[in-house]
Amino acid sequence: MSHEASILSLNNVSKSFAGAPGAPEVSILKGVTLSLPPGASAAIVGPSGSGKSTLLNILGTLDRPTTGDVVLDGHQVSRLNEEELAGIRNRLIGFVFQLHHLLPHCSALENVLVPTLAMEKPDKDARPRAELLLKRVGLSHRLHSLPGTLSGGERQRVAIVRALINRPKVLLADEPTGALDRASADALAQLLLELNREENVTLVVVTHAPDLAAKMQHVFEINDGVLRARS
Ligand SMILES: Nc1ncnc2c1ncn2[C@@H]1O[C@H](COP(=O)(O)OP(=O)(O)OP(=O)(O)O)[C@@H](O)[C@H]1O
Ligand SMILES: [Mg+2]
Repeated sequence: MSHEASILSLNNVSKSFAGAPGAPEVSILKGVTLSLPPGASAAIVGPSGSGKSTLLNILGTLDRPTTGDVVLDGHQVSRLNEEELAGIRNRLIGFVFQLHHLLPHCSALENVLVPTLAMEKPDKDARPRAELLLKRVGLSHRLHSLPGTLSGGERQRVAIVRALINRPKVLLADEPTGALDRASADALAQLLLELNREENVTLVVVTHAPDLAAKMQHVFEINDGVLRARS
């Protein structure tokens, strides 16, 4: 697939980390190539330590590859300086981390609005959109609750809404259902897919859960640093 047709692509991406003192470098990703069209959904699966989070961080420009290219919405990431990168990251990408990283002293609504504060042009519709999305994920009664008073699944839903508030083109989620029971995990997976369609946001989910992976259009597996399409 050409770059023009993809919202994100990795071209022959490798990543190595310094080993323990005196030990050689550790090669985590080896020649990973991946390309997704706008609006696609994809799961990344693989054993613990195989490099899934490393790959997601590179996709989300939180980390740079050792070699290879990342292209996001037509921007070659390696050509951008930190400031340009931060701008693109904020506009283009929403992140849902394994641990939700909500600010404990801010309400659900305030947490959702945090990413809008960094936008160059403040969106006057941010607050109504935040309220609408929180209602959309079943949290209309929780707008003013602090994260500490929410359940794990409710916190993850706040984190998803926060990731979507700036209308990103790409939503990256690292084990979003990892800490949830089966029923909450299923509901959250369903919600992610519905938002993928409604918001037309490209969804990439790292997961250990086969059920969640099976719901995505594409499944990629990492093994020994190599990424392969499973379906
Ligand atoms: N900053 C770093 N410095 C050195 N090694 C690192 C660094 N980040 C990750 N690693 C190593 O890279 C490997 C892959 O880590 P990563 O977090 O990507 O795995 P993962 O597939 O997400 O695992 P899990 O399913 O347990 O979350 C691990 O062996 C880890 O120790
Ligand atoms: Mg991980």
